[in-house]
Amino acid sequence: RIAGPSGLVIFGVTGDLSRKKLMPAVYDLANRGLLPPGFSLVGFARRDWADEDFAQVVHDSVKEHARTPFREEVWTELAAGMRFVPGDFGDDDAFEKLRATVEELDKARGTSGNFAFYLSVPPKFFPLVAQQLKKHGLSDPPEGSWRRAVIEKPFGHDLASAQELNQVVHQVFPPHDVFRIDHYLGKETVQNILALRFANTMFEPLWNRSYVDHVQITMAEDIGIGGRAGYYDGIGAARDVIQNHLLQLLALTAMEEPSGFDATSLVQEKLKVLQAVRHPGDLGAHTVRGQYAHGWQGGEEVLGYLEEEGIDAKSRTDTYAAIKLGIDNRRWAGVPFYLRTGKRLGRRVTEIAVVFQRAPHLPFSHTDTQELGKNALVIRVQPDEGVTVRFGSKVPGTSMEIRDVTMDFAYGESFTESSPEAYERLILDVLLGDANLFPRHQEVEESWRILDPIEEYWDSHGKPEQYTAGTWGPKAADEMLARDGRSWRRP
Ligand code: BG6
Repeated sequence: RIAGPSGLVIFGVTGDLSRKKLMPAVYDLANRGLLPPGFSLVGFARRDWADEDFAQVVHDSVKEHARTPFREEVWTELAAGMRFVPGDFGDDDAFEKLRATVEELDKARGTSGNFAFYLSVPPKFFPLVAQQLKKHGLSDPPEGSWRRAVIEKPFGHDLASAQELNQVVHQVFPPHDVFRIDHYLGKETVQNILALRFANTMFEPLWNRSYVDHVQITMAEDIGIGGRAGYYDGIGAARDVIQNHLLQLLALTAMEEPSGFDATSLVQEKLKVLQAVRHPGDLGAHTVRGQYAHGWQGGEEVLGYLEEEGIDAKSRTDTYAAIKLGIDNRRWAGVPFYLRTGKRLGRRVTEIAVVFQRAPHLPFSHTDTQELGKNALVIRVQPDEGVTVRFGSKVPGTSMEIRDVTMDFAYGESFTESSPEAYERLILDVLLGDANLFPRHQEVEESWRILDPIEEYWDSHGKPEQYTAGTWGPKAADEMLARDGRSWRRP
């Protein structure tokens, strides 16, 4: 899969995402031979840079963040197609210059009029940038070519704003030309959820309410909010991560088999399952939010959220969120899905644990812990990517004692191929026009439908519970599961 003649324009090229992810991903793609000859990269930002200055910035970011080794010949070829357009988003002259640049690249590099516009900018600028692209004839492709828009989350902050945003963007780009990035879908292990479920026979017969006790989806981070106070405060963990990454993981785990591995079939099934998601009644009992307080992490003393630079000392923003959801369909009726995420937790780990019911009867002597005999299949999204199956086994010895053991598949041991970074995969897919790994606007809106009542409830009910940095979150989260006779896994 090699992209055809094309170019990429990045708005917000001076931002963190661009420097740490997008530019290195473009280089890595070039290095793996997946970009077309003549591929071109255009930066747009409010800086007084010449093309060479921009190329230097890309160079530095590649040196620092690229995954693949630096090769002079790859760089030289890529750098020859780099252009920079200075200006702000309201500046008509700058957009005219952008149009001229795109035309020049078509002639000089053979990009054939095919351009993707990556809006790596705060969502409040989406409407303006989209309108400018339209006004200056950049969103309409020349005959036989394509123009696509790539947008980054957050796609709104609730259902109403997401609908509004989608409407504005669709006035300029038709829905099939809008690629919404959820970088979790670009992760190898996330794509493997479908392979695991539908390329095998042994899991799917058990993947339902007759055998599954519950599902736990965890995305724990050890980092705090770093320099992102401006973005994060007022948004919080649930909007930042549950609305997109975790609900996508839930959809892939719970959906029915799609009729094909194409964007339309996938969206159909993901959407169906998201539409069936229900809140199990009392939101006070089935949701928990927390905020990290000062503590220790990896031997280092770290600040509490309210002490972080740029955070309002009275902020009620959640840095931890746990919610219980149900899925009202034949496969999942009565099976709780517990989702949790947090910053400054014990360690960085993302996993999906499908926990099976206990054997109906244990004829052996065993130490009766709550978890014994509850088989689990754990998809380790990151780090240590792989899959673990937990089951009971006889302890060696003369008595028939049972203890839980694990069987492990690790990517690193089974495959020699290195996996591309999520952004590499996603940028390549944009250039190929392959929308499989991009949430559609209906999914985004459905996810807000799920989250909105929770956020509204939180808004009118007190404050998040403080938890010490470096621990596993607020006590209320443990109590939430304990009330159901269950407990969180300690990955
Ligand atoms: C982003 C969130 O979408 O995902 C961040 O905005 C979070 O708050 C990040 O840190 C985590 O991504 P990853 O790939 O490191 O798990």
